[in-house]
Amino acid sequence: MNVLVIGSGGREHALAARCAAEVGPASVLAAPGNPGIARVARLIDVDPLSAEAVLALVDRERVDLTIVGPELPLSVGLVDRFHAAGRAIVGPTRAAAGLETSKAFAKAFMHRHGVPTARFLTCHTHREALDMAKSAILGFPLVIKADGLAAGKGVVIASEMESAERAIREAMVEQRFGSAGARVVLEECLTGPEVSFFALCDGIRALTLGTAQDHKRIFDNDEGPNTGGMGAFAPSRLVTAGLHDRIVREIVCPVLAGMSAEGHPFSGFLYVGLMLTPDGPKVIEFNVRLGDPEAQVILSLVDEPLLPLLMAAAEGRLRAAPVRLAAETRVGVVLASRGYPERSDVGRVILGLEAAARLSNVSVFHAGTSLREGHIVTAGGRVLTVVGGARTYDEAIRRAYEGVDLVSFDGMQYRRDIGRKALLAGERAAQPS
Ligand code: AMP
Ligand code: GLY
Repeated sequence: MNVLVIGSGGREHALAARCAAEVGPASVLAAPGNPGIARVARLIDVDPLSAEAVLALVDRERVDLTIVGPELPLSVGLVDRFHAAGRAIVGPTRAAAGLETSKAFAKAFMHRHGVPTARFLTCHTHREALDMAKSAILGFPLVIKADGLAAGKGVVIASEMESAERAIREAMVEQRFGSAGARVVLEECLTGPEVSFFALCDGIRALTLGTAQDHKRIFDNDEGPNTGGMGAFAPSRLVTAGLHDRIVREIVCPVLAGMSAEGHPFSGFLYVGLMLTPDGPKVIEFNVRLGDPEAQVILSLVDEPLLPLLMAAAEGRLRAAPVRLAAETRVGVVLASRGYPERSDVGRVILGLEAAARLSNVSVFHAGTSLREGHIVTAGGRVLTVVGGARTYDEAIRRAYEGVDLVSFDGMQYRRDIGRKALLAGERAAQPS
C-alpha cells in the first residue's frame, strides 16, 4: 500500500512516521515534507494547493491513500478533486471544511442542530458589530472572532468596550486578517478548562482517536501571546468515560448527522476544541484536521494499525467498534525560534537531534527545519516537537525534557511546564479516554 502525506510540519512528520512504521518508508511519500520527514518517507516537491499536481503525483506513484495534514488544501477543495477523480483521500470536502474555515458557518450550524456552544452574534458590517458589542446582549468580557482562517490569531477576548472597538476595527476596517475579517462573530465568554477531542469520520460514523490538552500561550503558566501551540499532552485526564460519551452524544453525533442532512457529509479528522464549563462541554471551535502539536502526542497512543482505519474512513466504511487506545501518556514539548510568535529568527544550526532520538521512548518531530550544507537548520517559528512516552504523565514529562536537554540552537525557546496541568490533581496512571 502506497501512502501520500500532504504537508510539511510536525503533525505531518508524526503521520508519516506512523505510516512508515506500518507499511515501511519505501511506501510513504510526503509533499512537500521536511528534513525530518525525509527519514521516514520520500519527499516530493509538489505544491499541496495544486490539485492537478497532487493528482498527477498520485497516478505516477500509484498512491493508494492520501492523508491531508493542514487545513489550507482542504479549504481550496483538494478532497473534492480527489473524489471527482475516484482517488482515496482522508479529509473533508471544501463545503464540509466550512466547520473550520468559517466561524459564522460553524456557529449557525451548531445553532441549527442544537450543539452546545457559546451564545453568539454574527456581524456583517463594522456598524453592526459596534452596535451589538454595545448592546450588552452578550456582556463583557466579549469574545471577538474573525470569521475566516487567521492562523490562530483571529480571536480577541475584550474586557471592556474600548478593546472591543479596537479588535472590531482591526478586523473589519484595517483588514488585519484580510477577507477573513469581513465578518466577525461575537461570543459570550465561557470559562473552564479547554480540551481537544479527536474523531475519525467517514461521513456517517465517527470513531474517537483520543483527547489532548494544548498549551497555546508562549510562556509558562499560560502567559504571553497565543501561538499555534507550544506543547500538548495526551490523553486529557478531564475527559472521563462519562464525559467522553456525553461529548459523542451531544456534539460529535449531531455534527455528523447535521452535516449529512445538509448535503455535506463530514469525513476525515474532526478536532473539537471544547471548554468544560459548569454547564457541560461546549464547542469553542472545530478544526477539520488533526492539531499540531496534538497529532504528535495522540497518534502513537492508537494501539492498532492506523492505516486500515484511515482507508475505511476515506471509503465511507468505518466499523462501529471503538479504536483501541493504549493506557499510556505522551507529553510533547515544542522548541521554537527566537522571536516567535511575532516573527522567527531562522537559519540557526540545530545540534543534538541524533542524541535525543536515540533515547528510548523519546521521539523528535520536525516542523520548521531545512537542510543547508549538510546541516539541519531552523526554518520557522515552531521548529521541533520532542515527545516523551510512558505509563504515567510524570515519567513522560521527564523523558520529554530529557530529550529537550540534548537539543540546542541559537535562540531556542520552550515552555518548562508542559504536562504539569495533568499532574495537578495528583499523579496516577492514565486511563484510556
Ligand atoms: P479559537 O481560535 O476559536 O480556538 O479561539 C482561540 C482561543 O480563544 C481558545 O483556545 C480559547 O482559549 C479562547 N476562546 C475562544 N472562544 C472563547 C469563548 N467563547 N470564551 C472564552 N474563551 C474563548
Ligand atoms: N494546536 C492547535 C491547532 O492545531 O489548531
